[in-house]
Amino acid sequence: DAAALMASTSPSPPQRILTQDELKKIAAYKAVEFVESGMVLGLGTGSTAKHAIDRIGELLRQGKLSNIIGIPTSTQTHNQASSLGIPLSDLDTHPVLDLAIDGADEVDPDMNLVKGRGGSLLREKMIEGCCKKFVVIVDESKLVDYVGGSGLAMPVEIVPFCWKFTAQKLQSLFEEAGCVAKLRVSPENGKPYVTDNGNFIIDLYFKKDIGDLKAAGDAILRLAGVVEHGMFIDMATTLIVAGELGVRVRNK
Ligand code: 5RP
Repeated sequence: DAAALMASTSPSPPQRILTQDELKKIAAYKAVEFVESGMVLGLGTGSTAKHAIDRIGELLRQGKLSNIIGIPTSTQTHNQASSLGIPLSDLDTHPVLDLAIDGADEVDPDMNLVKGRGGSLLREKMIEGCCKKFVVIVDESKLVDYVGGSGLAMPVEIVPFCWKFTAQKLQSLFEEAGCVAKLRVSPENGKPYVTDNGNFIIDLYFKKDIGDLKAAGDAILRLAGVVEHGMFIDMATTLIVAGELGVRVRNK
């Protein structure tokens, strides 16, 4: 299990190359060490967060944790957590959370994040913005020099109405950074991907650094068709990175 994997990575180098999923699991298990009985917990979405939720479920079953209330950031996480017997609630009932644990698609040197390639950025941002502590769990492939630096998408959730118009506006905002805006489509049916909130996602690809993230985020949010963007600026309080040489914990 992850505890054994972690022991194998620290302090001496591992005996074999760990898979990306094993690294995700190591980061996730490390984050769950911050969880205490009685906490209200934000439960993230994605393959890394899934390991953390599994672990919380396991500790509850073993009686090593109790009185946890989970606030899920997606329907997918809601289903996983309820199948594990984790008691669930929402922001209406619990507007202040002790801790949230979630993955990320990119992490820059200042611990700014790109999230939402899994499509749950809006609920993640609402929930993770209400946490006393927000622990981000990644394998080291997610570390970038600047937001957009992986060459992969920075997602923006928009309303479906006249989505081409909004996509064009988004692309124009970042013309200087060589931005290309693409509607996300569902691989299953080739139709527009629909979020848990009934919206579409525009994925923005940048050729260059977009510079001031706060200014970029504000400009995106000023477009009327935009619901939220996937840059999580200055939100993470703790970063856990699992790599071949072990697991590192960094506090902001
Ligand atoms: C979902 C997210 C995920 O946290 C992000 O996509 C990372 O996913 P994974 O842990 O599967 O690599 O933001 O909206």
